[in-house]
Amino acid sequence: MTKKILVATGGGDCPGLNAVIRAIVKRASQEQDWEVYGCKESFNGILKDDVDIRLLTDENVAGIHVKGGTIIKTTNRGGPFHFPVKQDDGSWKIEDRSALMKKRLENMGFHSVINIGGDGSQRISLELTKLGINVVGVPKTIDNDLSATDYTFGFQTAVEIATECLDKLVTTASSHSRIFIMEVMGRDAGWIALNTAIAGGAEVCIIPEIPYDPRLIAQKIASRYQKEYGFCNIVIAEGAKALDGKVTGTDPTAIGDCHIKLGGVGDKLKLELQALGIEHDIRVTVLGHLQRGGTPIAYDRILATEFGVKAFELVKEGKFGNMVVYNHPDISYVPLEKVLEVANLVKPATSDLVRTARGVGIAFGDEVLCNK
Ligand code: F6P
Repeated sequence: MTKKILVATGGGDCPGLNAVIRAIVKRASQEQDWEVYGCKESFNGILKDDVDIRLLTDENVAGIHVKGGTIIKTTNRGGPFHFPVKQDDGSWKIEDRSALMKKRLENMGFHSVINIGGDGSQRISLELTKLGINVVGVPKTIDNDLSATDYTFGFQTAVEIATECLDKLVTTASSHSRIFIMEVMGRDAGWIALNTAIAGGAEVCIIPEIPYDPRLIAQKIASRYQKEYGFCNIVIAEGAKALDGKVTGTDPTAIGDCHIKLGGVGDKLKLELQALGIEHDIRVTVLGHLQRGGTPIAYDRILATEFGVKAFELVKEGKFGNMVVYNHPDISYVPLEKVLEVANLVKPATSDLVRTARGVGIAFGDEVLCNK
């Protein structure tokens, strides 16, 4: 009898999602009697009144590994346990549609589900597993903040894009003796900022894990301008916090949004520096979703393909309730419960990358190195 797998991509998109989808389909097609279906827009395709899923074949996934985004679409709102339903009066009601999802999967003859997504999606994977649904998770996030896996695909692409942008800003900062603040993604984890600052040779790197003191950054800037060719490049993660511990952004307005929309900390820092008397020209560049769009670099295509092949193999072996991981040098898996225990954050006191950054003179807005 044909065994049907439902594949969904959830949360923010990420370069490499299509490579995972393609790998699952290609690997499944080597076996007898397996079919892979794509569920539209995370699980909305099976939760909405009009079911929207489609058969994925070798033909319709051909060549998609080089494309950014996800051909089956995604959303970072709602989900089976918090499904937003518009009421006649225009208001929204949140419904738990998980039982409906289970019933539909059974009625449609689905054997299992592969859920590709970050921590929010894998929380859903775990809850679905508890309902008795056969689920395998595949980790995804450009932030690289899942501790169970050494890397998530998409992260290296984001670092590559951000580094390319920083390289461009460095030359113009130098020409005009300006201060550039480049805001990158990174909600809780500063990995993109930290890697980009090292790769691009920034002078200052501000990450969520190290609360920054604007006075110390102003000191670092002043010391830069004491040199003949003064200029300064600052990379700041969107989730950066000053000493008051507050992030910068706007409260969610759309129904089902669970996070504050981060953004604007670069502008905030600019104002703080100006208030401290920095008179040099300060310009802010926010990279935003440029970091998430477009073609995945080769590294991410390869990692995503490894994850896709492994996800199918776990399904075939009946190893449900697990998430695929990369623990160098192996592609293996861990129970979903473990995935959510701790986030992968930069540990300032012990991180080799932080030590390396400080070793080449990058200041973090804390007491170390701000007057050098
Ligand atoms: O989690 C990945 C991420 O890119 C974060 O860095 C960012 O805060 C968030 O998604 C933004 O998501 P969206 O713009 O899709 O709401």
